Amino acid sequence: MKIDILTLFPEMFTGVLGTSILNKAKEKKIVEYNIVNYREFADNKHQTVDDYPYGGGAGMVLKPQPIFDAVENLKKGEGKPRIILLCPQGETFKQSKAEEFSREDHLIFICGHYEGYDERIREFVVTDEVSIGDYVLTGGELGAMVMIDSIVRLLPGALGNDDSPVLDSFSTGLLEHPHYTRPADFRGMKVPDILLSGDHRKIEEWREKESLRRTYLRRPDLLEGFPLTEKQRKWILEW
Ligand code: ADE
Repeated sequence: MKIDILTLFPEMFTGVLGTSILNKAKEKKIVEYNIVNYREFADNKHQTVDDYPYGGGAGMVLKPQPIFDAVENLKKGEGKPRIILLCPQGETFKQSKAEEFSREDHLIFICGHYEGYDERIREFVVTDEVSIGDYVLTGGELGAMVMIDSIVRLLPGALGNDDSPVLDSFSTGLLEHPHYTRPADFRGMKVPDILLSGDHRKIEEWREKESLRRTYLRRPDLLEGFPLTEKQRKWILEW
């Protein structure tokens, strides 16, 4: 996968993309990151990328020219990249979107730092507008990092064990069951007996039940439209 990032603050990405799994994925050639400062594409002497809004009002607006030119430059290869604009008005980012984007060959992220983007960027350049949640950040960079982290870890070979994303919270539609490791008794706080029983069928059922219980108690909204089995319906009635 190729990931291009258009930003005015390239240095924000070096730590995150150069660490841990995101860095290993790059070293394994599973992903290629290209960070572009779009100020370099500004066609004016002072390399200005923002201007006052038509009609007046507070704040500056990101000009179309540097973004149009930077994206045209990046699109020169073959294929049709997804061009993602980070903004609070976008569709809220979810695991299902991370999965969808992880199946693409080429993503371009556009990060802004202004009161707004010239509307022609949204209309004629961008394929997806994405928000990472209902709060306002100072810019799109943190949002792009959150998205890239969740997308790259899904690429085949990025995690040590290829199966591991399959059972992630949200991928299954439910939150994950509780996990325990040694010791079995830590300062009197005990691991549930069933996990020490060696009975794999019973352990699987316990995990399924605890995963459902956690989802039911913490995120009941996730169960809307979730295809519950008869057994799962009965468990819920017990709670
Ligand atoms: N830029 C500012 N706020 C944002 C948010 N919540 N998500 C994505 N990009 C943003």
